[in-house]
Amino acid sequence: MSSFSLKSFDLQGKKAIVTGAGRDTGLCYGMAKALHTCGAEVVLYDVLPSVHDTAKQLGETAPAVYGVEADLNDAASRTRGFHEAVELLGGRLDILVNGAGMQYRCKAIDYPEDKWEQIINVNLSSMFFLSQMAAKIMIPAGKGKIINIASMNSFLGGKIIPAYASSKGGVMQMTKALSNEWCGLGVNVNAIAPGYYETELTEDLRKMEQAKDISKRIPAGRWGKPEDLSGAVVFLASEASDYVSGAILAVDGGALYGA
Ligand SMILES: NC(=O)c1ccc[n+]([C@@H]2O[C@H](COP(=O)([O-])OP(=O)(O)OC[C@H]3O[C@@H](n4cnc5c(N)ncnc54)[C@H](O)[C@@H]3O)[C@@H](O)[C@H]2O)c1
Repeated sequence: MSSFSLKSFDLQGKKAIVTGAGRDTGLCYGMAKALHTCGAEVVLYDVLPSVHDTAKQLGETAPAVYGVEADLNDAASRTRGFHEAVELLGGRLDILVNGAGMQYRCKAIDYPEDKWEQIINVNLSSMFFLSQMAAKIMIPAGKGKIINIASMNSFLGGKIIPAYASSKGGVMQMTKALSNEWCGLGVNVNAIAPGYYETELTEDLRKMEQAKDISKRIPAGRWGKPEDLSGAVVFLASEASDYVSGAILAVDGGALYGA
């Protein structure tokens, strides 16, 4: 970055893929919307067939928005989806937001093997393989931004979510490992750790007794909304963060250190 100005946050001309952005009430859609508002062309990548309609909705104003339907839990579908997305973006990729994730609550003692494998695969392994495919485009270009979505459970163990906590702990470590290899080649790898947000993923949690304790531990006094991640994702996707890599940025209303 030569000289700092408001333009350092400008994403005009940038090309982005955001996984998990197929549901317009989710955090990833919110982040895709923020990137788009700041000028990026965006692919929404999701297993939901409705991703095409969601893309049309966001793409009503320029720049272009595309939908790609692909399943991160299936290696062939995941790879096909990535290449389809890059083709839609004209063969370039500046920003990858690895946002898709899933949850399954069950005591560790009874945790089913198929759920364990699915959560580790979708939340962690697929994030690695998409990052690897992205880096093969970004490294030769000498620049790129990879943003992984971590969680409070990257730091904390949580309750009755052993697979989710394990996967999100892995996301934090993977972010540091990839940053160590790729930052010197122009690719920044960072993570955003959202706190507690009102989305479909937490709908069951918000009905549980545990939710009252969580609410008390959020110094901001409220759960987050998708738009609360906008500033963080634009910062990490833009030139303004060129010297930031390997960071895990909590966007949590202070919850991580809440008493
Ligand atoms: N809501 C929260 O409080 C919270 C807190 C911390 C982290 N997160 C993380 O933020 C991310 C988004 O979560 P959200 O709360 O918006 O939930 P959400 O359920 O609304 O969004 C998750 C998205 O991922 C997609 N997805 C799931 N499995 C997929 C697969 N196999 N292939 C492709 N797409 C798939 C879903 O279709 C959905 O659109 C997740 O990684 C989640 O772990 C959420």
